[in-house]
Amino acid sequence: MNLKEEILKLKEKLDVTVVAHFYQRDEVFELADITGDSLELAKRAMQTKSKYVLFCGVGFMGESVKVLSPQKRVLMPKVACCAMARMIDVQYFDENLAILNKVGINNDDILPITYINSSAAVKARVGEMGGMVCTSSNAYKIIEKGLKSGKKIFFVPDRCLGQNFAKSLNLTSAVVGDGTDLHKADIICYNGFCSVHQLFTVEDIEFYREKYPDILIAVHPECDPSICDAADFVGSTSQLITFIKELPVEQKVAVGTEYNMVNRLREKNTYILSSTKPECPTMNETTLEDVYATLKQIEQGSDEPYENEIKVDEKTVKYAKLALERMFDV
Ligand code: 13P
Ligand code: SF4
Repeated sequence: MNLKEEILKLKEKLDVTVVAHFYQRDEVFELADITGDSLELAKRAMQTKSKYVLFCGVGFMGESVKVLSPQKRVLMPKVACCAMARMIDVQYFDENLAILNKVGINNDDILPITYINSSAAVKARVGEMGGMVCTSSNAYKIIEKGLKSGKKIFFVPDRCLGQNFAKSLNLTSAVVGDGTDLHKADIICYNGFCSVHQLFTVEDIEFYREKYPDILIAVHPECDPSICDAADFVGSTSQLITFIKELPVEQKVAVGTEYNMVNRLREKNTYILSSTKPECPTMNETTLEDVYATLKQIEQGSDEPYENEIKVDEKTVKYAKLALERMFDV
């Protein structure tokens, strides 16, 4: 029996749901019971009845499932950490708040919104301050809702997402430390970014447009605002998939997001919007061997937490859940 067959056999036998993000390697992605963008994965993994969730993705995704359903045992074949999520922790968050306070913007005047690509601890800090979580597929609605509070939005950690949605809502934005007057901004962004989505350039777009004048450009909102401004479509991973699959087969499209997802989208007329291979190193860490080894751990059964099991303390669960639930309410 080969490894894939062994995995399928174990999956059938165990009380486990295998979840995978679109950026996973093909061989891992194909084995999943649930696939989707960050929002869909958080919602659907929470709704499963199984005791174990085996999450193939990055750390903040597994943590979100644990926060939403603490009774589940969430294991990650590789506890790989999203590079953007690592750019902020509670200390950096508070240091940024202190900068805002120093120029006279007090905590009472601030509503924090965190992109789901952040640790449970950061989500908890946001939840404690009355704030919410958002994902790339609902950021527009969440920011709109946040603005109704009459407060300034402090958006963490992705400055690009914050700036892109500020533009689409006709709002002004600033990045902490970029020298812009923070008082004039409706949305103040933390200075974080995704290293993978920074790979796409305006020159890449010009290259494709020159080569194929009718080509469409579709990108993820983690790309720089200059890229999103020049694109024909901006959306989350799921929104990109829907947009591209609905195009006529002869329509050429260049896509600005992670390689694994773009590569399996359509056989013809789909291009990667980059001369380099935009692979997310941490998403790519999970292998079939890791999935197999984690299923074997589950098969052996233990009441003790496993090394690669997601653990979140009670206080963090309480406040991070608040921030996530406020998102679901919207
Ligand atoms: P989605 O929520 O669009 O799947 O994005 C997650 C992500 O990490 C993109 O880099
Ligand atoms: Fe994080 Fe970027 Fe990888 Fe998405 S592509 S998981 S934001 S490092």
